Parts: sequence; structure tokens; C-alpha cells
Amino acid sequence: MTGMQTSVPELVHPVPADEVDPWARAMVATFLGDPDGPGTRRRVELLTRHWDPARTWGVRDRNRWVATLRTEQRALSLPGAGAETLDLAVDAVTNVTVSATHRRRGLMSRMMEESLTEARDRGDAVSILIAAEWPIYGRFGYAPATVAANYAFRRSRRGARCAGDPGRIRQVERDEFGAAAPAVFAAARRRRAGQVDRDADWWNRVLGREGYPPSEGMPHNWLLHEGEAGPDGLLAWKATSDWGLIPPLASAEVWNLTAATDAAYQDLWAYLSGLDAIDDIRLDDRPVDEPVRWLLDDARTLVMTRHVDFLWLRLLDVPAALAARRYAVPGDLVLDVIDEDVSRFASGRYRLTAEGDEAACAPASGDADVEITQQALASIYLGGFGLSELQLSGAAQERTPGALNQLGLMFSTPHAPWNATWF
Ligand SMILES: CC(C)(COP(=O)(O)OP(=O)(O)OC[C@H]1O[C@@H](n2cnc3c(N)ncnc32)[C@H](O)[C@@H]1OP(=O)(O)O)[C@@H](O)C(=O)NCCC(=O)NCCS
Repeated sequence: MTGMQTSVPELVHPVPADEVDPWARAMVATFLGDPDGPGTRRRVELLTRHWDPARTWGVRDRNRWVATLRTEQRALSLPGAGAETLDLAVDAVTNVTVSATHRRRGLMSRMMEESLTEARDRGDAVSILIAAEWPIYGRFGYAPATVAANYAFRRSRRGARCAGDPGRIRQVERDEFGAAAPAVFAAARRRRAGQVDRDADWWNRVLGREGYPPSEGMPHNWLLHEGEAGPDGLLAWKATSDWGLIPPLASAEVWNLTAATDAAYQDLWAYLSGLDAIDDIRLDDRPVDEPVRWLLDDARTLVMTRHVDFLWLRLLDVPAALAARRYAVPGDLVLDVIDEDVSRFASGRYRLTAEGDEAACAPASGDADVEITQQALASIYLGGFGLSELQLSGAAQERTPGALNQLGLMFSTPHAPWNATWF
């Protein structure tokens, strides 16, 4: 009797461009998609156009791809002075899969460790990802940094009214929407920390412009809000059910609601609240502190249907990362950062000083005021979580009385951070 030959899976990095098709098919299958479906062909085409072999990993076994990982450079908005934000180029990890035939043998760990080390060597201060499941990425030092909310807007209830001027909103064709979208989103993105960028190519890709094949399931309504100096708001939505003469009426979903000004935000919600024939409007991946609550006659017509950690973050270079953002109040603290995960990139003692629009962080030798894990620091970095809730787990302890309170105040932000972009 002949047994099956034992195979040794081979870690491949970089993944050559001519392997995109089988690499992507393996990735799609593990993400429960159809590797032979039209969506996969589209995906392969898009990946091929932007393939950067130096930022791709995979594992091959018996001539088949059994694991995938890719990273890209994205811009992340960070808390700035006052209500402003700053931008930081970060390492963004995506397409992480290991086939069910090869799980729990350390393949993801090998790819993650290599990719994080390369990010650190490249000089990236921060790495981000969206975690499919909570337990996967903590061991590599990632921690939740933003929360996303889904809402159901019960539009046909009496109090679901938002005042505003829908007259400033123009219905347009998808192409015109696509031409305006990059600039409007770029301005809107900078109104909150935690937002990942979308360049013009991102919009062309999802909207099927400039030779890209159109995606399936696109919205049917494309709207621009006209501000003083041109478009400053975007809204795209579609009905998801029909309606009859007897209620319930139809449902709808918002694919995109982006506002670069408060006026655009209010007018777009006024438009939504006036969509007759629709009972319920679904909005996904929105901020937890959706300000429209305070514009509605009855804020309970906006129901939060999901609340989940969304963007995960890992600090690779503490001085660079902490100096890249601004702080709500002045402070001067020495932090002992404990990092026991991959390569302990963040381990060390650092002095953080902040005053108005200035922030500095450098290795320090004096006594520490606070001892904090890298993961806790990552969770408060964008203002998404408070030290008070993390403290219970022992993730942060003060050596100087009052230092934790001070640190918590410094890292607080005017708005909850929010990321609207999957990657
Ligand atoms: C998540 C995934 C990539 C893990 O790959 P893997 O090669 O099995 O992971 P590793 O063997 O390197 O696991 C390292 C450790 O993490 C743990 N781990 C990995 N995935 C986990 C999960 N989903 N839940 C709980 N623990 C997990 C392993 O048990 C292992 O722990 P141990 O060292 O204590 O034994 C793989 O299960 C997968 O492809 N899942 C479906 C797609 C997916 O969710 N991808 C992530 C997208 S963000």
C-alpha cells in the first residue's frame, strides 16, 4: 500500500504577477466565495492592475495556493489640533486566508510575522486591518481602535423628520457622481480620525469608470449636495423591496452618505427623511455617534442595529506614531510600553510631550508615570476607546498619581473615530 507523500508547504514572497489568478481564486474560496464566479474574474482583473509583488505573500502546497496575504499603503486620519485631523501613511493588511486543509499549522503566523517585520523595516509607524474574528490578530499586537455602527432609520414614523434644504441636492448620473466623489470624500474623511483613504482609482473601481467593469448591485440613485464652492456631499441609495397599496411600504439601503460640511450632512438627512413610499432605510458602517440624532424630532426613529469593533491597529514605532497625532490637552508623561507580541516592536520607555499644535515623543530613561500595554495604547490611539474601560483588565497602571487620568484626557477626541472604508 502506498501512503500519500508528505508535502511541505512552501512560503512564497514575493508572489509573482502571473500567479494572481490562482492566488486570488484560493483567497476567494476561503472567504466563502465562488472562485469560478464573475465576481472573482473581476477581482483578479483589479488585483492584476495594481499587483505589488513586494507586498504579497502566499503558501503553495502540491502546486496549489493554500494561503494568501497582501498589504498596501493607505492614509489614515489621526486626531489633530482641535477638531482637525492629520494624515499618516500606514501599512494596511488584507486578503489574509489559509485554506481549511492547512489551518492551525502556523501558516498565517509566518506570513503575518514577515509582513509586520517588513512594515517596520519600511518605516511604517502603524499597521491596520479589519479583523474577521476577534481572536485572530491580538497575538500579533493588533487591538480594536474604532467601532462601526449599523442603523435602521424608521422613516415612516412620525418623528423621523430632519429639517434641511433638499433643494441643494442634485440627482446625477453615476459618472458625474464618480467625477465629484474623490474630492468630496477626501474633504469629508478629514473631519474624523480613523478614516482610511479612497483615491480616485478606488472610486473608478467601485463605480465602474475609466474602463473598470461595473460592480453588481449598484445603487440606483446618485446625488450630489451643492455647497458654496461646488459639491460637498454625496448620497447613493437604492430601494431593496417594492411596496403595495397596503403598508408596509418599501425598504431602502444607503450605499454612501458622505458630508464634507455640516450643511451637506443636514440636507442629505433631510432628503432621506422625506423619501415617501419607504418605511425603513438601512445604513451600514456608520459612526457610533451619528449626529443626526440631534436633528431628528424623535431620535428613537434611528435604531442602532449593530455595534462592532471595526478597524484594528498595531503600533510598530511608538515615537513616530505618538508624535504623528495631536492631543486634546497639554501633557508631559513617561510611558513604559509593554509589547510581548511579535518582535516586541513597541517595547520601551518613551516620553510624550504635547502642547497645542505640538507633540513630541522620544525614548526616555527616567521613571515612568504610566505602564501600559502596546495594545491598550493602540486602542486609545484614535480616541475610540477610553483608558477607564481598559484599565479594568490591568492593561494600564499609573506609577505617578493622576497620570492615567492625564493620559486619558490627552488621548480623548471630539468625535468617535470612524472608518467608512473596507480594505
Ligand atoms: C484566520 C486564519 C487565516 C488563520 O490561519 P491559520 O494558519 O490557521 O493560523 P495559525 O495556525 O497561524 O494560528 C496561530 C494561532 O492563532 C489561533 N487562531 C487562528 N485563527 C483563529 C480563529 N479564527 N479563532 C481563534 N483562534 C485562531 C490558532 O489557534 C493559533 O493558536 P496557537 O498558536 O495557540 O495554536 C484562517 O483560519 C482562515 O483563513 N480563516 C477564514 C478566513 C479569515 O477569517 N481570514 C481573516 C480575514 S481578516
